[in-house]
Amino acid sequence: MHFITYTTLSLLALATSATATFAQVNNNCPIPIWITITNATQQPSQYAVPINGTYLQGRSGIGNAFGLSKTSAYFSPQTPKWTLGFTDSPQDGLLYWSVINADGDAFAGLAWRVSFSDPACPAMTAYDGGIVHTCAITANLTVTLC
Ligand SMILES: *[C@@H]1O[C@H](CO)[C@@H](O)[C@H](O)[C@H]1NC(C)=O
Ligand SMILES: *[C@@H]1O[C@H](CO)[C@@H](O)[C@H](O)[C@H]1NC(C)=O
Ligand SMILES: *[C@@H]1O[C@H](CO)[C@@H](O)[C@H](O)[C@H]1NC(C)=O
Repeated sequence: MHFITYTTLSLLALATSATATFAQVNNNCPIPIWITITNATQQPSQYAVPINGTYLQGRSGIGNAFGLSKTSAYFSPQTPKWTLGFTDSPQDGLLYWSVINADGDAFAGLAWRVSFSDPACPAMTAYDGGIVHTCAITANLTVTLC
């Protein structure tokens, strides 16, 4: 009996850690790309993702955005920007996400791709006017640039 209890507990612990999901940006472009991260409660933070570099963060909560641009002047109307919005919704087990561009096309002539670890969720490789898509909340989200 004891053994079974322990097994159940460690399986639960494993299941809990296995449900941690991530949002990631891989920069394969020949230039650094700036990421501006916002969410519902936090001031924006910015990092340069170097050539061949990765930005990775745990995923949770609502109203998250990864803004991508070639310069750090993300909020300038002169700066073309690519923005991925995403919300984790434990209530229905879904990740809601959409991509928009503003002030031009930050990746004109360069390939980009939003993809998921869940094969049921198709990748996106072109703007669609900000349609909101869903995937299972358990899926990792990856943005691949170039
Ligand atoms: C980036 O990766 C490519 C492919 O592996 C490599 O050819 C290139 O030298 C790398 N560039 C830098 C700046 O690390
Ligand atoms: C916003 O981001 C901060 C830092 O990563 C995090 O501590 C906080 O929980 C996030 N808020 C929401 C609503 O997701
Ligand atoms: C999500 O990414 C983490 C870290 O790389 C990995 O441990 C986990 O297995 C991934 N989840 C899925 C569903 O692929």
